[in-house]
Amino acid sequence: MSSKKVLLSGVKPTGRPHVGNYFGAMKQFVELQGKFENYIFVADLHALTTVQSREEMEENTVGVLLDYMAIGLDPKDVTIYKQSDVPQVAELTWIFSCLTTMPYLMRAHAFKDAEAKNKEINVGVFNYPLLMAADILLPGADVVPVGQDQKQHVEIARDTAEKFNRVFGETFKLPEAMILESVATVPGTDGRKMSKSYGNTIPLFATDEEIEKAVMSIVTDSGSDIPENVYAIHSLLRDKEELDAMYAANKGQYKKLKELLIEDLKTLITPMRERRQALEEDKSAVLEVLKAGGKVAQKRIEEKMEEVREKVGLKLY
Ligand code: TYM
Repeated sequence: MSSKKVLLSGVKPTGRPHVGNYFGAMKQFVELQGKFENYIFVADLHALTTVQSREEMEENTVGVLLDYMAIGLDPKDVTIYKQSDVPQVAELTWIFSCLTTMPYLMRAHAFKDAEAKNKEINVGVFNYPLLMAADILLPGADVVPVGQDQKQHVEIARDTAEKFNRVFGETFKLPEAMILESVATVPGTDGRKMSKSYGNTIPLFATDEEIEKAVMSIVTDSGSDIPENVYAIHSLLRDKEELDAMYAANKGQYKKLKELLIEDLKTLITPMRERRQALEEDKSAVLEVLKAGGKVAQKRIEEKMEEVREKVGLKLY
């Protein structure tokens, strides 16, 4: 087995990824490949909490796979798989469900938000953090690169590991969230957290027209020299010194500053979008990556799951 530490993370196939997903998490997946033993997956079981159409699920799942490859994940260095190819995570989720109390899970932010908005909450949404704990703990992740909004979920995975270890004996490593401070919460075009549910995103594989439209829609308040929301997004793309010089030279010229941001976004996005289009031409080759990754992940995870079954008393022969 490799002596490298284990890195694991995933993205939910619920629609197009955005610049917030990229800077908050996905970019780290690429930058850290080779430095860790990497497991990156498509969280299709998590997406089932909201996606209830076969076509949409299939399309989105292949979509995340294409996204991973287009941003530069290399299957030679990273095990790329889809969660449902490793059904042991669902099995372990049940075991965790029997160890975890309702009041504990009721403190989860995602559940509390849904409840505050009077949303109809399915049991999957309530149990979501335990499925995530199973994802993280089964392959023995040391680090989990994510955005700030997933921090509590990684803490729940730690708590769950501790509880299991206490009850059944030392089994799981305790994972740590890896959150880069500068991009912990990437703001959207209205200054709130960039999120599909707020409709304030810049899609990661946006066309030129979509980039222009999104940037032109960035909310600016006319009082200051520096349009705060434009600057915040721009700071993802340039270092501070360069950016401050650019904004000082174009003080108060909101349109010009937006055009400069459009240019920088195009420089980032165009090559990735083109790579994604090329990969789309040969979907079957890309799907092979997923199939092969599933086998590798499954083998590792089944070993751990056997240990769990034994400890819990489910394995008699
Ligand atoms: P998902 O698919 O919602 O988001 C993928 C990643 O993008 C990050 N992110 C952001 N980061 C900074 N600023 C933003 N505005 C922003 N929006 C999204 C998220 O924090 C995330 O890292 N539950 C997870 C998927 C998952 C998972 C896992 C992740 C399932 N199992 C195990 C890690 C480990 C989710 O829904 O991410």
